[in-house]
Amino acid sequence: VKAGIIGGTGKMGRLFAGVFSRAGYDVLVSGRSTELSNTALAGQCDIVMVSVPIRETVHVIDEIAPILSKDQLLCDLTSLKVAPVEAMKRSNAEVIGMHPMFGPTVTSLLRQTIVICPERCRETTLHTLLTILRAEGAECTITTPEAHDRAMAVVQGLTHFVTLCMAESVRRLGTDIEKTRQFMSPVYQIEMGLAGRLLSQDPDLYGSILQENPFMAEVLAACSGSVDDLQEIVASGDPARFREFFARNARHFGDYCAEGMERTDKLIEYLVHQ
Ligand SMILES: NC(=O)c1ccc[n+]([C@@H]2O[C@H](COP(=O)([O-])OP(=O)(O)OC[C@H]3O[C@@H](n4cnc5c(N)ncnc54)[C@H](OP(=O)(O)O)[C@@H]3O)[C@@H](O)[C@H]2O)c1
Repeated sequence: VKAGIIGGTGKMGRLFAGVFSRAGYDVLVSGRSTELSNTALAGQCDIVMVSVPIRETVHVIDEIAPILSKDQLLCDLTSLKVAPVEAMKRSNAEVIGMHPMFGPTVTSLLRQTIVICPERCRETTLHTLLTILRAEGAECTITTPEAHDRAMAVVQGLTHFVTLCMAESVRRLGTDIEKTRQFMSPVYQIEMGLAGRLLSQDPDLYGSILQENPFMAEVLAACSGSVDDLQEIVASGDPARFREFFARNARHFGDYCAEGMERTDKLIEYLVHQ
């Protein structure tokens, strides 16, 4: 059996080439500079996986869709699911959308989450794919493309947005990051670490995650409303209003407050003893 990875020359593609190879598949890869074309790969593989940049994904799927048959599985690794899954359904193949919730620097798939959107497939096909991923220790969350993109607008979109706003504010203030080291609290160290981590990666990936998610606008409207409200409460100097803001969010977070405290205490302890 053959698995073909379009974009298999890239970071995530290489990672998943290893997964299929360990599962006993012959793995073929294509990219823009490989001798093997995307269509030649698609014509001969039982599983065809698309792992190209988000903005290229629908274009690449449209290129191969006409030649796929109902006996092939078409899947992708794109960080968004509504548009790629819609495009994959224009083929005759079985369709399963995937989104690994980790980047290419992981050392294995052990305990890593992969979101799976089985859009149009036989039970046995889904079972085969899940078996391959679970054999690597991955945890698979099954959902729909719309539920995935709605969740990602918060899980990735909102968190990346807030991190980027913090980085932009630090820059606008002309804050010398090196000089702040001597005032560094563990929480500042973690937040700055997350900003540095994000800024050292591919801007097009992060740009697409924010700009191409159909549910991003409503999340960012809530975010800017929150910024306005909190700014006004801070400026008012009224402790009661701040306490009320704090309390309603603590109520909403519920048990997660204590859990968050416990988990980040461990993280802080680790950083302190490094
Ligand atoms: N990186 C992450 O943290 C991460 C996490 C989860 C999911 N993803 C998803 O994984 C996918 C790939 O991301 P990546 O980080 O692996 O990106 P990447 O390292 O840039 O790899 C993408 C590959 O796609 C190939 N490519 C571009 N246009 C192509 C085309 N028209 N035809 C064939 N190949 C083409 C490129 O190969 P050539 O240059 O050789 O053409 C490149 O190696 C994206 O959909 C992304 O949303 C990424």
